[in-house]
Amino acid sequence: MKLNSILRGDCIKLLRNIPDESVDIAFADPPFNLKKRYSSYRDNLELSQYIEWCNLWLRELVRVTKPTGSIFIHNIPKWLAYFSAELNKIADFKHWIAWDAMSTPLGKTLLPTHYGILYYAKDATKLKFYDIRYPHHRCRKCGVLRKDYGGKKSRLHPFGPIVSDVWTDLHRIKHNKRRDRHPCQLPIHLLERLLLLSTDEGDVVLDPFMGTGTTAVAAKRLGRNFIGIEIDENYVQIANDNLADTNEKTKIGASWVSLYLNQVATLRDVDWRDIKKYFEIPAPIKRIDSVSIKYSNGKQQAEEQDIDEIPPEHKELWDLQV
Ligand SMILES: C[S@@+](CC[C@H](N)C(=O)[O-])C[C@H]1O[C@@H](n2cnc3c(N)ncnc32)[C@H](O)[C@@H]1O
Repeated sequence: MKLNSILRGDCIKLLRNIPDESVDIAFADPPFNLKKRYSSYRDNLELSQYIEWCNLWLRELVRVTKPTGSIFIHNIPKWLAYFSAELNKIADFKHWIAWDAMSTPLGKTLLPTHYGILYYAKDATKLKFYDIRYPHHRCRKCGVLRKDYGGKKSRLHPFGPIVSDVWTDLHRIKHNKRRDRHPCQLPIHLLERLLLLSTDEGDVVLDPFMGTGTTAVAAKRLGRNFIGIEIDENYVQIANDNLADTNEKTKIGASWVSLYLNQVATLRDVDWRDIKKYFEIPAPIKRIDSVSIKYSNGKQQAEEQDIDEIPPEHKELWDLQV
C-alpha cells in the first residue's frame, strides 16, 4: 500500500488490501448516518444496516493495526455505544474521550454537549502511549488561572496539566474561511493531539474516511506517514490541495508539538525538559497563577479562544441525535 497518498474508493474494499498488523494507528471519522447531503453515498441507512457496515470496517481497522497500536473512532455517543460492543470483542478499551460541543436545548432530553472519541488498544499490554499536556485555562480578561489550585500553586507544571479524557480546549472550525467544502471537517489540532499521544515520528497512520484530509495534514505536520481512503473524488482533490499547501513542520527545537494560531495546543510530557528553554517561565513559579508563560515568539500561552455559535451543520447533527 502506497504511503502518503489518498486512495479514492470504498474503504471496505480497499482495507482488504492492507496487510495484517502493518499500520501504527487507525483513526476513523465515519459518516454519522444523519441524512447529511453527501454526493457519493447514502447517509440514511437503516440502523441495522449502518451498524453491520460499521462492524465490517471496525474489524478491518483492528486487523491492520500493529500490536502496539491504537484505534480511535470519532462519532456521536449513540453510535459509539454500538461500536464499543463490537470493539470489546477484538481490542482493549482505553478511554471514551468526551470532546466538548456546543448545543441548544431540545426538550425531553439532556443537552447533548459532546462528541465521543473511542480509544481502543489493539493490545493494552503492548500499547505505545505518551502523556501529553495542554496549556492552563485562564480568564480571558484578567489572565488568572480558571482552576483554583489553593496552596498547591508552587507545584504546578509551568506549561499546563496532563490531558484528561474530557477535552474542552479544542474547538471546532467555526469560521467559514478556515473550512473546506465539507460538512464535517475536523480541526487539525484534534488529530495532532491523538497522534502525539499514540505515535512516534515516521509511524504510519491510517484513516479510511479521509474527507478533506485533516488526518493526512496532521500527520505531515508532525513528521508521520499516512494511508488515506476516501470515496468522494471531490474531497480527495481538496485533501490533496490541502496537503500540497502544508509545508510547515510543527516542532519546537527537536520536539514535535501541536501548534494552533501560534500557540502550543498540545505537547508531550517527556519533551518538556528540552522545550522549556523556549519559554519565559514566571519566577517564583507560584506566580503562574496570574502570569502566564510565554513562548519565545512573544505570544501569550493559554489565551482562551472565542467560543462562537455552533456552526449550523453541527447544530443539525445534535438536533438529529435524539
Ligand atoms: C465524517 S466525514 C470525515 C471528515 C474528515 N474527518 C475531515 O476532517 O475532513 C466522512 C467521510 O467518509 C467518506 N465516506 C463515506 N463512505 C465511505 C466509504 N465507503 N469509503 C470511504 N470513504 C467513505 C465521505 O465521503 C466523507 O468524506
